[in-house]
Amino acid sequence: MTTEAEVILTARDVHRTFGGVRAVDVDHFEIRRGSIVALIGPNGAGKTTFFNLLTGFEKADGGSWTFEGQELAGKHAYAIAQAGMVRTFQSARVFPRLTVTDNVRLGAQHQKGEQLWRAPFAGAWRSQDQQLAVRAAELVDWVGLGAKAGDFAGTLSGGQRKLLELARSVMSSPSLLMLDEPMAGVNPALRQALLDKISELPGEGITVLFVEHDMDVVSAVSDRVVCMAEGTIIASGTAGEVAADERVIEAYLGGSSGDLRDHDRNAAPDAAPHEDVPVHDETADPVTGRPEPGPRDLHAGDPPAGDEPAGGATT
Ligand SMILES: Nc1ncnc2c1ncn2[C@@H]1O[C@H](COP(=O)(O)OP(=O)(O)O)[C@@H](O)[C@H]1O
Ligand SMILES: [Mg+2]
Repeated sequence: MTTEAEVILTARDVHRTFGGVRAVDVDHFEIRRGSIVALIGPNGAGKTTFFNLLTGFEKADGGSWTFEGQELAGKHAYAIAQAGMVRTFQSARVFPRLTVTDNVRLGAQHQKGEQLWRAPFAGAWRSQDQQLAVRAAELVDWVGLGAKAGDFAGTLSGGQRKLLELARSVMSSPSLLMLDEPMAGVNPALRQALLDKISELPGEGITVLFVEHDMDVVSAVSDRVVCMAEGTIIASGTAGEVAADERVIEAYLGGSSGDLRDHDRNAAPDAAPHEDVPVHDETADPVTGRPEPGPRDLHAGDPPAGDEPAGGATT
């Protein structure tokens, strides 16, 4: 039995239909603080929609969810991100005409309170700007993009964008980070690096919920696995328990998605038009759905030629 303090997110009766199709119908879902939870399920199971609902990128038809003791149903994506619940997208979203470091710096705009300024590394003599720059540089290095720090994000491969998006979301000091298929489109050489970073997050005070299909990956990093099919949660437990669950096997075999183990391995992110487009604004901020910020004090400069390779390209 989990106590309230141990649970960071509790959702009840969260549901949404699209033209009669029950995309999400989740009775009960909770995440323990400090854990890594994997969300699996065949294509079309409702995983992305569930993310969209919880983070305010789409409106639920009903239900409630409490995050850090705060009721978030009906709140705008911006307010939810500010509360510390931050998500990434199935196709990594970056500002292609900003440098890698500036992309990461922008993540700090949405952090709650003034935590960053009180962080231990922050000497009182430093300006907030300097502190942001230092933190952004640290995170760029942390995801292994140090050599690309000054490059335009538009020049990065799909896998590198995933790493950038991770750094950017960590910059916002989330308490819950929701990663939608962080491994999709990432080449094998980068996958292990990304996995290692994800497993370090709880040590930084960040609870993780991530969507992934590869059961080897899921087993390697998650404390608990939850499986969705046709909008509902059909199983949860350890990776071993869920992989052996009859309903889970049936859900994967019954759909067009094929084998659980090989499902979507190395596949590019789904390109279904509804997938990642927030309902609010197509030029929205990748983290919160807010309109894309202008360069402000950042040095946007001219984009390089051949900007914006196809999202999700294999690295
Ligand atoms: N904006 C939308 N409009 C219409 N149908 C949608 C929309 N978003 C999701 N769906 C449908 O809801 C179901 C769940 O989709 P999705 O959440 O993307 O699944 P998953 O991420 O598990 O692959 C699918 O049948 C999908 O076609
Ligand atoms: Mg999805």
